[in-house]
Amino acid sequence: MENSNHIQCNYIFQGDCLDLSRQIPDGYVSMILTDPPYGISYRNNFSSQKHSVLEGDGGIDYERMAEESYRILKDNSHAYFFTRFDCYPYHYKCLEKAGFTIKNCMVIEKGAVGGIGDLKGSFANNSEWLIFCQKGRRTFNRTCLLENKNKEGTQFHHGRKPSAKYKTRFNACWFGEEYPKATYHPIWQKKHEIYHPTIKNAEFLSWLIQISSLPGELVFDGFMGTGSTALAAIQTGREYLGAEIDPDYYRIIQKRLHDKI
Ligand SMILES: C[S@@+](CC[C@H](N)C(=O)[O-])C[C@H]1O[C@@H](n2cnc3c(N)ncnc32)[C@H](O)[C@@H]1O
Repeated sequence: MENSNHIQCNYIFQGDCLDLSRQIPDGYVSMILTDPPYGISYRNNFSSQKHSVLEGDGGIDYERMAEESYRILKDNSHAYFFTRFDCYPYHYKCLEKAGFTIKNCMVIEKGAVGGIGDLKGSFANNSEWLIFCQKGRRTFNRTCLLENKNKEGTQFHHGRKPSAKYKTRFNACWFGEEYPKATYHPIWQKKHEIYHPTIKNAEFLSWLIQISSLPGELVFDGFMGTGSTALAAIQTGREYLGAEIDPDYYRIIQKRLHDKI
């Protein structure tokens, strides 16, 4: 790719994200929103479409990924890393060791409940987990994403001025009608013929982008999959940069960004 003095924006590298990030100067990106492989062998069989085993499912060097993420992120910026309950302690440790301040574990409702695992002896996984980190400190943007219940503002405590019409404080758990879902329903994948076992909903990602970055800023995702983060960045007027190692998924990204779906 480009030399380190000139990193192209709105660009997705087909290859290992660590090869890309090595070329990115310190503090270059304004936000990280990424969904690394969890080191599991994940193959499901929905929509009668077999997904290939994901690249990296044998495990990525998470510690190094965390260090590089911290290095390329601008001071006073936000980073979100998708995780899963059983990998969470390790991911948390690596991100903390890399220097991040870990603020929350977000829990977001999925668009459909998966049918894998011990169907009769475990609870259905109906959520996605995200580790929300800061490098330094950045406050959330004021957005129009969620209205307060009382449209003119909510009276939190007796005698206090009503808050603004739009929420400025979000819950860490996003469930129910008012929030976008973390993933698509299988019918969506079938309709658009975009198949990936861990695809995320671009609208949901666009909410995080609007909360944590400004128009024109650069959002980084080293594990693009089908390009959901790039699409969300485009839809919200941000720039994107990232990588995808699998040539088949890389082709889907090109199609998805072209068709804007
Ligand atoms: C969990 S999926 C991301 C899915 C994505 N959020 C979406 O909405 O489509 C992780 C992706 O990382 C890719 N991957 C695995 N190891 C990688 C590496 N070292 N560098 C870049 N991409 C990698 C996999 O091929 C996979 O598509």
